[in-house]
Amino acid sequence: MVEAIGAMEGRTCVVTGANSGIGKATAAGLARQGAHVVMVCRDGPRGEAAQAEIQSLTGNPSVDLLLADLSSQAAIRTLAAEITRSFESLHVLVNNAGALVNPRKETADGLEYTFALNHLAPFLLTNLLLDILTASAPARVVNVTSGAHAMGRMRFDDLQARRRYRALGAYNQSKLGIILFTYELARRVEGRGVTVNCVHPGGVNSNFGNSAKGAFAAMFRLFKPLMRSPEKGAETVLYIATAPEMEGVTGGYLVDRESRASSRRSYDEGLARQLWDVSAELTGLDDAPRPA
Ligand SMILES: NC(=O)c1ccc[n+]([C@@H]2O[C@H](COP(=O)([O-])OP(=O)(O)OC[C@H]3O[C@@H](n4cnc5c(N)ncnc54)[C@H](OP(=O)(O)O)[C@@H]3O)[C@@H](O)[C@H]2O)c1
Repeated sequence: MVEAIGAMEGRTCVVTGANSGIGKATAAGLARQGAHVVMVCRDGPRGEAAQAEIQSLTGNPSVDLLLADLSSQAAIRTLAAEITRSFESLHVLVNNAGALVNPRKETADGLEYTFALNHLAPFLLTNLLLDILTASAPARVVNVTSGAHAMGRMRFDDLQARRRYRALGAYNQSKLGIILFTYELARRVEGRGVTVNCVHPGGVNSNFGNSAKGAFAAMFRLFKPLMRSPEKGAETVLYIATAPEMEGVTGGYLVDRESRASSRRSYDEGLARQLWDVSAELTGLDDAPRPA
């Protein structure tokens, strides 16, 4: 991807999961274009090492680090308050942090971890940052999903997978969830100067799946050397976040910088509204934008 140096000067961009893989390559790409980058990481030393590397690699000192464990709703609320308090504006929010979790575990809030981290965290963080995004318009939200969403089902009868947990099923559901959220939010904020899109980055050789147990994670690790680099995986994320031709484009699913159709189920507006209501209840969000 050809990046115009300085094209993002004066733009503040938050990237979650920015110390590794696609998130780190995205943060570096934004810094290279002159943006003020705010890295959100959960681990101090890992975050600081990536921050120093990005600053020296790009020559851009304007790279901040905020710490937050995004599986915790209290941490997300603290993070959103810190962003709103510390920065005058927010032009780009990249919801990238995510994981494949095996065996099943619960967050501090008592929620199944995959659903909480991959879907509820972007839902809550984005809604809490909507005011500053709107005030900074034009602004862009980029949600990192996966092609695996196509195998996902929303299992509202056992959303926390207490009866039956399959790591891949939970992952696929969470990635369908973030697409349903992307399309629903795009509808709800239409006309406010905030675009909302999602991206499948391709199969990427990152730390993804490294700490998960089970056959799928083992197979994924086996095929990693054949997968694309994090920089290649970040290309479409950066394209949505920065390309002039993406100005005003909203409610899309992109792969390799092209608009693609996501699964049939992901366009179900009734399902999207149901998921929104459940997510709002699970996160205690009561001031989210209503449908127009
Ligand atoms: N790799 C692929 O083939 C692929 C394909 C499709 C979609 N994706 C999606 O791409 C996104 C990035 O994944 P990746 O491949 O770059 O994997 P990665 O190298 O494992 O990066 C994931 C990032 O998320 C962070 N993270 C995990 N749990 C967190 C938590 N509780 N709070 C805050 N941050 C947390 C990680 O931090 P730590 O370093 O501290 O763990 C790391 O910075 C994910 O949403 C993933 O689902 C990946």
